[in-house]
Amino acid sequence: MPQTDVLIIGSGIAGLSVAIKVAQRFPKRRVVLITKQESAESNTRYAQGGIAVVSDFVNDSFENHVQDTLDAGDGLCDRQVVEHVVQQAPERLRELIELGAEFDRDGSGELILGREGGHRANRIIHFKDITGLNISTALLKKAATLPNVEILSHHLAIDLITQKDSSGSTRCLGVTVLSLNSHQLEAYSARVTVLATGGIGQLYQTTTNPVIATGDGIAMVSRAGGSVSNMEFIQFHPTAFYDTSTSPAFLISEAVRGQGAYLRNAAGERFMFRYHIDGELACRDVVSRAIATEIESSKDNFVYLDCTHIEPHIISNHFPNIYQTCLSRGIDMTKQYIPVAPAAHYLCGGIDVDLMARTTIANLYACGECSNTGLHGANRLASNSLLEATVYAHNCFEDIQREFENPNPSSAPVPNPRPSWFVEDKPEMVKARTDLQALMSRYVGIVRSDEGLEYAYRRILEMQSQFTEDEDAIHTPAWYEFRNMITCSLLIVRQSMSRKENRGGFYNKSLESNEVFG
Ligand code: FAD
Ligand code: SIN
Repeated sequence: MPQTDVLIIGSGIAGLSVAIKVAQRFPKRRVVLITKQESAESNTRYAQGGIAVVSDFVNDSFENHVQDTLDAGDGLCDRQVVEHVVQQAPERLRELIELGAEFDRDGSGELILGREGGHRANRIIHFKDITGLNISTALLKKAATLPNVEILSHHLAIDLITQKDSSGSTRCLGVTVLSLNSHQLEAYSARVTVLATGGIGQLYQTTTNPVIATGDGIAMVSRAGGSVSNMEFIQFHPTAFYDTSTSPAFLISEAVRGQGAYLRNAAGERFMFRYHIDGELACRDVVSRAIATEIESSKDNFVYLDCTHIEPHIISNHFPNIYQTCLSRGIDMTKQYIPVAPAAHYLCGGIDVDLMARTTIANLYACGECSNTGLHGANRLASNSLLEATVYAHNCFEDIQREFENPNPSSAPVPNPRPSWFVEDKPEMVKARTDLQALMSRYVGIVRSDEGLEYAYRRILEMQSQFTEDEDAIHTPAWYEFRNMITCSLLIVRQSMSRKENRGGFYNKSLESNEVFG
């Protein structure tokens, strides 16, 4: 049975940052990072706009960033968390740069600051429109130089191994892991376990998230009895390239609107000022609902993003990836409008953690998109996600450091997993995944209703009952992922049913609130 000091699940910004920090501080400790596809695959890799950090203290301030985050979160952020994250940002950015991440600078070497929705100042640090790829590459490169970090790609974490103590509280002893190469199911024991498994975008038909985003860590914690909340707050990004033939949906960064692009409806009208005084740069929840309303009334499937008034060299210099990808899909964005529609993008809630990334299960941490820290409240401010992940990865590392300085660690034997034979998927498995995505998109999307939520709840329970588990068998990776998608969908639907007021990214038309575009 593999024994580890620190077992990390996920190779995005959160998981890699924890791995690097712990391994550097404790060169004799064994850090194992498990990830279900290639190590480079993650939501992090696709991040475009950048990372929100106050660095111009003349035109901006920590207080401004705090206030913008609180406003976006629509009254549900934890102010103490927001202040902490915003104030830690410059130090964490400095570390990312030290680790090799590059960011755009002007001729005198100053960081170039971009703008996105909900920010009252230019404060987005970025590398062209491929900020995430740049950060991910730098972190993977650094991790590869550390002899005590072992990255196991194509390994799927299945379940937490837990134990209840005499007081009834639960402790994590490690994780059962399926090797996708050898098809072996093994128990990995760990002094501490860190979940950095990312989001849930794949629960929806149209999403900017890659296929890995199936909510695995959140479902694992929920099954183990840990606390998970704010799952009803799904952020839909307003501007994904509309093209039903490709998945995931290609994102057209909010930074393009920050550069001055307009949203136009089917009639060519610039509609956003009818919904909010900040027009195209209102917060994402407002812009996505406005687009959904325009789409509903025009009966088209998309609206347009108009960049034709922006200097072509600005487009090709600042957004080379977006420009080229649009060209490859037949749109020259310097001359033509881009068809765009909202897509599931980010989960604001998740596994409940405290300021040190500790979950409600002892010896188990969570950081990054899978966690619910209190930073985002009802709606995340643009580019606060990479920031949150790096700040909480650091806090997690600091707490692990304290744990390792404890001379008398608690330990318990980890049982071997029982399963012994494979069960093939039923043929209806693939269809079940797409059926679930269609159901979630239709009834648990940008605009929800009581009847829709009740219907979705019943249907998901029916789907769940068709896929009963044989505990003594090894299932396929697709089966395990589908089980996690079902668990997360049920959490989202139940928590949506419990919310009795519309806030931020949550809108239930049955509540007949006046706060829709508030
Ligand atoms: P991820 O980067 O998603 O990594 C999760 C990892 O866990 C993956 O390696 C995955 O394979 C692994 N994993 C999951 N389940 C298992 C399992 N069962 N077993 C083993 N491994 C598992 N945020 C910003 O702040 N700024 C931006 O500009 C920005 N742009 C974005 C653009 C796009 C297109 C997308 C999709 C997101 C964007 N975001 C942005 C959001 C941000 O990228 C993510 O929230 C953030 O990168 C999440 O990092 P993470 O480390 O928590 O998870
Ligand atoms: C974008 O570039 O629009 C995405 C930014 C984010 O998700 O924070």
